Amino acid sequence: MTTILMFVLSYLLGSIPSGVWIGEKIYNIDIRQHGSGNMGTTNTFRVLGVKAGIAVLAADLLKGTLGASLPYFFDSNLSPMVVGLAAVLGHTYPLFAQFKGGKAVATSAGVVLAYNPPFFIYCILVFGILLYFTRMVSLSSMTALVLITISSLFINDWILTAIAFVLTIFITYRHRENIVRIKNGTESKIPFGFRYKK
Ligand code: G3P
Repeated sequence: MTTILMFVLSYLLGSIPSGVWIGEKIYNIDIRQHGSGNMGTTNTFRVLGVKAGIAVLAADLLKGTLGASLPYFFDSNLSPMVVGLAAVLGHTYPLFAQFKGGKAVATSAGVVLAYNPPFFIYCILVFGILLYFTRMVSLSSMTALVLITISSLFINDWILTAIAFVLTIFITYRHRENIVRIKNGTESKIPFGFRYKK
C-alpha cells in the first residue's frame, strides 16, 4: 500500500506543470504557444526571461527531488531512483496539463539530487561544460545523459546505471523535434535570440 502511495504521490508531484502555471498566472502567457512550445525550463527562459526560467528550473528540480525522497519519508527500502521515475513520468505526461508535458531533463536531475548529491554535482558539471561549447540545451542534455550513463558504470551502482540508461533513451525520444532542428542547423542557442516580452 505504501509503495502504491509513493508512486502516486511522486507522479502527482511531477504532474505540477510549473512552466504553464507560472506563465499563465504571473505573465498571462501560455508558454506552450511560444518558442519551442515546450513547457520546461529552457523554453521558459526563452519566452519569459531569466526570473521565470529560474523559478521553473527550481520547481521542476524540486518535483524530482521530492518525488525521489518519498522512500526516505516513508522509511521504505524502495530505491529513490525508481520512485523518482514516477515524478519524471508525471512531468512528461502531467495529469494537470492534459498529459502533454516537458522533456524531463530538470526533473530527472532532481531525482539524481535526492539519490546521490555528489553525482548530481558531477552531472551538472558535465552538462555545464557541454553547454559552454555547444550553446544548445537540448544537445547538451542528450550528450550529458550518454556520458553520465557511461560514468555511472565506474561507481558500481547498477540501479543508477539502469535508470540513467532508460532516461537516456526516453529523454532522447522526447527531444526528437530538437534532433531534427539540430540536423537542420535551426536549433536555438543561448543566449536566446528572441524573447516574448519584457
Ligand atoms: O530540457 C529541455 C531542453 O533540453 C530543450 O528545450 O525548449 O529547446 O525544446 P527546448
